[in-house]
Amino acid sequence: MLAVLVALLMATRGAAQTQPSLKEVFKKDFLVGAALNYPQILGLDGRGDSLVRQQFNAITPENCLKWESVHPRPETYSFEVPDKYVAFGEKNGMAIIGHTLVWHHQTPRWVFDSANGKPVDREILLRRMHDHIATVVGRYKGRIKGWDVVNEAVDEDGSLRQSPWLKIIGEDFIVKAFQFAHEADPNAELYYNDYSLENAPKRKGALALVKKLQESGVHVAAVGLQGHYKLVWPSPAQVETTITAFAALGVKVVVTELDIDVVPASQGNEGADLLLNNKDMRRADFYAAGLPDSMQQVLARRYTGLFAVFVRNAEAVDRVTFWGVGDGNSWLNSGGRVNYPLLFDRKYQPKPAFDAVLKTGMK
Ligand code: G3I
Repeated sequence: MLAVLVALLMATRGAAQTQPSLKEVFKKDFLVGAALNYPQILGLDGRGDSLVRQQFNAITPENCLKWESVHPRPETYSFEVPDKYVAFGEKNGMAIIGHTLVWHHQTPRWVFDSANGKPVDREILLRRMHDHIATVVGRYKGRIKGWDVVNEAVDEDGSLRQSPWLKIIGEDFIVKAFQFAHEADPNAELYYNDYSLENAPKRKGALALVKKLQESGVHVAAVGLQGHYKLVWPSPAQVETTITAFAALGVKVVVTELDIDVVPASQGNEGADLLLNNKDMRRADFYAAGLPDSMQQVLARRYTGLFAVFVRNAEAVDRVTFWGVGDGNSWLNSGGRVNYPLLFDRKYQPKPAFDAVLKTGMK
């Protein structure tokens, strides 16, 4: 009877339990992390939390440390959830990442507006930025390993994004954000985080930005490649070129938000031919009934190619964080999409891609 119970327990825990974990396999290469959502931080997702503890040694908050969440009104900070997030990481001995301080999304309008609704001036916005960073970073001083200080400040052509931060403060809003963060916690690692840096024009702009920060005396510990990838874009070679280019500046690279969109309609130019021969493939919910085994294998090979690059460049790569724990958590299920971008499925069971990624780390 006991043997039956044990077998049943092992079966329900999924194959991931009988294999080494991601954090174990890659422990000599880089940290392996996951973004946590509200249910996971609040202890309302026991299976998800259990898988996080089993597989990962780093965590990032998907939303709870963004300005709109932690500082919704001028005189109001909301630290209940972030405190639980940091406590979860400390209890489980994980590297705790802060995401994100200065971004053009999920920042309340009051930050940029004066009482009459017109934009505030440079001095006022700088003071608001300073006070936010000093309060939030200061609260977790010595507890949060590193911060995505500025998120997505470079446009696709390599120029600075025309955000309210740039328009009101000017180009030095980026240097100021890093300086304020360093003042608040001198030992925290400070990151610049962005997506599509694998595209040459944008990468060139971000390289120039990091160089300018370094010339201004800012210590950029790492550049975050978000890693919101498609089935064929970027190629492993493009990823390796990008890692090498930033490492040449003397900064580390962290892959901060890794997921792979498998929906045919999401593939952009590289996947356009997919849609030509089957009009149904234009549907965002093309895989609503589940991801066919053939596509599970495509995803497994795609992750294999990427992790081969990460392992080959482990000297430069400090961390690889997945943007979610299981497929059901993913932001990529937005817009009507039914997506399968991660290593664990909607029941937190390992997918073929999990086995494939483990193999790339086994020496
Ligand atoms: O919290 C509110 C809730 O009160 C409300 O009932 C609900 C319905 O409107 O919305 C909830 O807020 C949502 C929030 O996630 C928290 O769940 C927002 O609508 C939704 O837009 C927001 O989406 C997040 C998105 O950033 C916003 O741009 C995603 O979860 C998050 O995965 C995504 O993450 C970003 C990174 O921070 C930066 N890099 C890109 C990445 C993907 O966009």
